[in-house]
Amino acid sequence: MDSNDWPEPIVPVQSISDSCTHVIPDQYIQPPSRRPSPDLIKNVNIPIIDFHDLTTGDGKMVEYCPATVKEISDACREWGFFQAVNHGLSHELLHRVKDVWRQFFHLPMVEKRKYSNSPINYEGYGSRLGIEKKAILDWGDYYFLHILPTSLKDHSKWPSVPPSTTDTVEEYGKEAVKFCRMVMRALSLSLGLDVGKLEQSFEDDSGDGVGSCLRVNFYPKCPQPDLTLGLSPHSDPGGLTLLLADDHVQGLQFRREDGWGTIRSLPDAFIVNILSNGVYKSVEHRVMANSTIERISLAFFFNPKSDLLIGPMADLISTENPPLYRSMTFNEYRVYIRKNGPKGKSHLESLKS
Ligand code: OGA
Ligand code: NI
Repeated sequence: MDSNDWPEPIVPVQSISDSCTHVIPDQYIQPPSRRPSPDLIKNVNIPIIDFHDLTTGDGKMVEYCPATVKEISDACREWGFFQAVNHGLSHELLHRVKDVWRQFFHLPMVEKRKYSNSPINYEGYGSRLGIEKKAILDWGDYYFLHILPTSLKDHSKWPSVPPSTTDTVEEYGKEAVKFCRMVMRALSLSLGLDVGKLEQSFEDDSGDGVGSCLRVNFYPKCPQPDLTLGLSPHSDPGGLTLLLADDHVQGLQFRREDGWGTIRSLPDAFIVNILSNGVYKSVEHRVMANSTIERISLAFFFNPKSDLLIGPMADLISTENPPLYRSMTFNEYRVYIRKNGPKGKSHLESLKS
């Protein structure tokens, strides 16, 4: 696909980074109030949850440990984020999947450009979100692809170089979905629902099941990291996000009352964040640029089926806890966000019922 449908020609940030040594182009400069001001930033340790402690028993008779369910629940209520360790994915797989993507982003630009995406569905190699002309741009490139449902998965839109990409991403996707299902069950219990209730709410009877997609972020070195952002403030659109961060450099921040907190990510952990009806927080986050080290991250989104009507579950709604947003399908919501680009949580404000 060509990039004609973007409002302006797409220039990969990586190519700017390779050619500019001192000054970034104007379009990447944030207004002063949105720049990463050091006195408003703190390093923060978010709760760490050991998933080894969540369940006992064999495949058939699984028992969930109430203390760990409570830890998850408290983390979601108070922070909206936690780090998951002992999540069941092998560290070897985590390293391998980061490695294939690092190799991809280091291919010559002509190779990567073969996968250039369009704002129609964003699948492929891209450098911007939103189609607003002259919008301020983020200092990062990305690759976006669908893993589930199978009807949306299209291997021809995945990189064929390095050759192991498809198998590795398939393997990673399967394992990540398994872990997301475990988190969903814990969240379901923590909300006082039956263990499978939350998972079921993501599916319908068609058999095509939940959605999941992968956004691989690549943040090249930036000569003026104080003026720009790797990724502007946003909250993720799906049900659950697993972020696999770079082991070599930090950059992810979330909004706090008094500014921004930089998450100190543990190697081989997932940073998990959730979307909700206000019981749990879906926290606004952003990514800082870095002057000396490039950064890669994999955001795995576990989503409700795309044409399922999304609204809070009847079990969770009461006169004291009314629905906060109007119901819409996940697809409608996604189209809405894609038109407008990352705008913090203002999307959600305008959808309040
Ligand atoms: C995202 C995201 C954070 C990061 O892709 O939605 O928030 O650290 N990424 O790259
Ligand atoms: Ni995000």
